[in-house]
Amino acid sequence: MIVEWSKPDITQEEINAGIISLKTHIGANGPNIELLEKEFAEKVNSKYAIAVNNGTTALMTALMCFRELYGPDKTIGVPSFTFIASANSAKTFYDNVELLECDKNTWNIKSEYIKNNIDLLMSVDVGGLSCDYDDLKSLNIPIISDSAESMGSTYKNEVIGSQCDIHCFSLHTAKIITAGEGGMITTNDSNIMQLCKSLMNHGYSRDKKSYEYKHDTMGLNFRMSDIQAAIARVQLKKLDSYVEHRNKVANTYKEEFKNVEGISVQEFSDEYKSNYFFFGILVDENKRDSLVNKLIEKGVMVKTWTSVHAQPLWNYQFTKTPDYFTNAEKISNSVILLPIHNTISEDEVDYVIKNVKELL
Ligand SMILES: Cc1ncc(COP(=O)(O)O)c(C=O)c1O
Repeated sequence: MIVEWSKPDITQEEINAGIISLKTHIGANGPNIELLEKEFAEKVNSKYAIAVNNGTTALMTALMCFRELYGPDKTIGVPSFTFIASANSAKTFYDNVELLECDKNTWNIKSEYIKNNIDLLMSVDVGGLSCDYDDLKSLNIPIISDSAESMGSTYKNEVIGSQCDIHCFSLHTAKIITAGEGGMITTNDSNIMQLCKSLMNHGYSRDKKSYEYKHDTMGLNFRMSDIQAAIARVQLKKLDSYVEHRNKVANTYKEEFKNVEGISVQEFSDEYKSNYFFFGILVDENKRDSLVNKLIEKGVMVKTWTSVHAQPLWNYQFTKTPDYFTNAEKISNSVILLPIHNTISEDEVDYVIKNVKELL
C-alpha cells in the first residue's frame, strides 16, 4: 500500500469549473476572481480578500505593503521553524530579518522570544495551528500572519483571517484547499487592501482611468488567473468538511500514539482548532532518519521539516548560535510529518499507525 503524504481532492466539479472558465473567459481576468474574493472574505470573516497567484506572492505583496507603510529600514521577526518561503520573502524586502525561537509545545512563536529591536512581525501558523494572536498582539507591532497552512483553523472560536493586519494564505496543491497554485490576502483595513491591490498588479494608480497605463507604486504582476479562481471557488465550499475529516484523522493518530513511549505531538489547548494541514510526531532524533527511511520503504510517505536557521542558505548569515534555537532545533531534528489529507481512508490511517508502532 502507498499512503500519500498529501493528495488534492479534485473532482468532476472542479474540472467542469475550470473548463467553463477556459471556454468563456480564456482562463484570465474573468468574473471568478471577484467572486472568489467575496466568498473567501466571507468565509474567513474578513472585510477584504485579494486573490494572487501563490502563497509566496501573497507574502511578498504584504511585505511590499509594509515597506510602503513603515519604510524599509525596519527589523522584521520571522519564526525559524517555518517553511523557507516565510523567511526568503521577508529577506527579499528587508535587509534586517531576525529569526525567532518557537514554543516547545505548540511549535509556534510567542511574545517572550520577541525582543524590542523587532519593529514588524511575520507570524506563522505552523502545521495549521494558529499562533496565540492575543499574546503576539500585546507587542503592539504590525503583524503579517503567514496563514499559508491555517485556512479554516480557528483561534478562540474565530476563523483565521482577520486577527492580524494582513493574513496570507496558500492554495498550493498540498494545501487544505487548492487551485493547483494560488494565494489569498485578507485584511480589514481598506488602505492596506487598496495598496495590496495595486502592488500585486504592477503598482497601478488607484485613480487611473480605464484606458491609462499609470503606475504610482513599485508593483509587480502576481495576479491569479480566472481558471484558478473557478477551481478555488468549488474547493472553498468543501473547506469545512475537509477540516472535519482531518480532525477525525488527527484524533485517531493522537489516541493511538498517546501511550506510545518515544512519541509526542504538537500540544495546544481547546482555545485552538487546527485544520491539521500537517500532523507531526516527535521521535528520538537519533532514530528519526532511519525511521523515515523505513516508513517510506513501506509506502508510508512521510516528510521532515528543517528550521530556517539550519538551512545552508541561512545559517552562514545569521549571528545567533543554534543554542538560541533550542526548541526549533529539537523539533526540526526529531519531527516526522505523517500522511494526512482530505480523502485519506481509515485503512490508510491504520496502515500508517501500524507501521509507525512496528518500526519505531
Ligand atoms: C508556512 C508557509 N508559508 C508560505 C508558503 C508558500 O506558499 P506557496 O507554495 O503557495 O507559494 C507555504 C507553502 O508552500 C507555507 O507552508
